[in-house]
Amino acid sequence: MTDRLEAITWPVRTERLLLRRATPDDAEATWSFRRIPEVTEYMTAAPATLEAYRERFLGADRLRKTLIVEQGGEMVGDLMLAVRDGWAQAEVAEQAKDVEAEIGWCIAPPHTRKGLATEGAEAMLRLSFDVLGLRRVLAQCFADNVASWRIMEKLGMRRETRTVKESLLRTGAWVDGLGYAILADEWRARVTSKGDFVARP
Ligand SMILES: CC(C)(COP(=O)(O)OP(=O)(O)OC[C@H]1O[C@@H](n2cnc3c(N)ncnc32)[C@H](O)[C@@H]1OP(=O)(O)O)[C@@H](O)C(=O)NCCC(=O)NCCS
Repeated sequence: MTDRLEAITWPVRTERLLLRRATPDDAEATWSFRRIPEVTEYMTAAPATLEAYRERFLGADRLRKTLIVEQGGEMVGDLMLAVRDGWAQAEVAEQAKDVEAEIGWCIAPPHTRKGLATEGAEAMLRLSFDVLGLRRVLAQCFADNVASWRIMEKLGMRRETRTVKESLLRTGAWVDGLGYAILADEWRARVTSKGDFVARP
């Protein structure tokens, strides 16, 4: 499998942040905030031990899509930038290989509500469209995760789906989900119309 993120020159800097690719050594430091209940409330998994967390962190192709977020040399969160195939009919599937990305975010509690997730997410859109030349970026969350879908809206992503009681939380509740996306042309139009698009907290 090609590692599409190799095409990016790392680390990537934004106004306040440094984004770099995750390494196996980042397991413990990310666990320090990913073990906190308020952080895992809407996350896909909440491993109970560092060992279980490490196995997941290092497993499958997770490392290759995880970015570490640093501010002033301190780790303040992590991001997901997962390049994937678009949906396509079988006859044209080759043309839909690696054409879109799913993005996600996690910021450690002491650093939330300062616009850092939005700043990191904006950088992932820039990388996706301007460097990787992708055609679409999507993001998903539970409808109750207001902070997460606010990021998507601040970035100009379009709400495309709202599923109804389709997702099961570990609390036992079946809840709604939201899907957002933005196309390359829409992103470019937004950047151009605003001169230099930067979402502010
Ligand atoms: C979701 C998360 C990444 C937001 O990070 P952040 O750095 O605080 O986000 P920002 O500061 O860029 O804020 C984005 C928007 O969310 C809002 N927001 C942030 N935290 C919020 C909260 N707890 N409740 C409601 N809104 C919140 C901000 O006010 C801002 O919206 P606004 O400009 O309309 O005011 C962070 O809370 C987190 O890591 N949560 C746990 C992990 C998680 O749920 N990840 C997403 C899974 S889909």
